[in-house]
Amino acid sequence: MTLDQWTAVDQYFDALFVPSDPALEAALHASTEAGLPPANVSASQGKLLMLLAQLQGARSILELGTLGGYSTIWLARALPAGGHLISLELNPDYAAVARQNITHAGLSAVVDIRVGPALDSLQRLVAEQHPPFDMVFIDADKRSNADYVTWALKLTRLGSLIIVDNVVRDGKVIDGDSTDPSVVGTRLGNDLIAAEPRLSSVAVQTVGSKGYDGFVMAIVTGE
Ligand code: DHB
Ligand code: MG
Repeated sequence: MTLDQWTAVDQYFDALFVPSDPALEAALHASTEAGLPPANVSASQGKLLMLLAQLQGARSILELGTLGGYSTIWLARALPAGGHLISLELNPDYAAVARQNITHAGLSAVVDIRVGPALDSLQRLVAEQHPPFDMVFIDADKRSNADYVTWALKLTRLGSLIIVDNVVRDGKVIDGDSTDPSVVGTRLGNDLIAAEPRLSSVAVQTVGSKGYDGFVMAIVTGE
């Protein structure tokens, strides 16, 4: 099986289940125009995130790694009236593109993008005693995944859902000898999740237009 086949099947399912959407299309277009890396989730993955947030009944969502705000839009659309999403982004240029995309999607009142190192913003959220988030989507630099999960645990409650993106990386994740910082960081994050008695977790491998990758899903089962 090849990326071409996975992409064709993604297109087939997108045509069935993920109808083209002007705000999302515009967000991708603006992100490409601005030179952002194409590290956004696929349309089907974005819809999956929205459905998971809806299943979760999420009223508050924390995202790590805004990029151009594509997944942010999907997640924010799952929120009921009065819900909110905070998204953390290191790069101010990316955050500016994301803000425009989110405004264009009519979600600027729901989404708060905080610029700076995610670890600083996370520390601040804890310091300001932000109420526990119902869902956390970890999709920033992979080197810090273990730290991000540790902070996510401080900012969630019994029953919260934590999702970590890009945990397969073309299968490179199984290489314990890898010196690739993203692989090392992903493995450290996975080990931390596995050893964490407060989490019940599983990994889901995916193929599609974004290649061979996957995500970890964890429910907070203890406090
Ligand atoms: C990369 C990061 C992502 O979050 C993603 O979904 C795809 C690729 C990257 O760093 O290459
Ligand atoms: Mg990602």
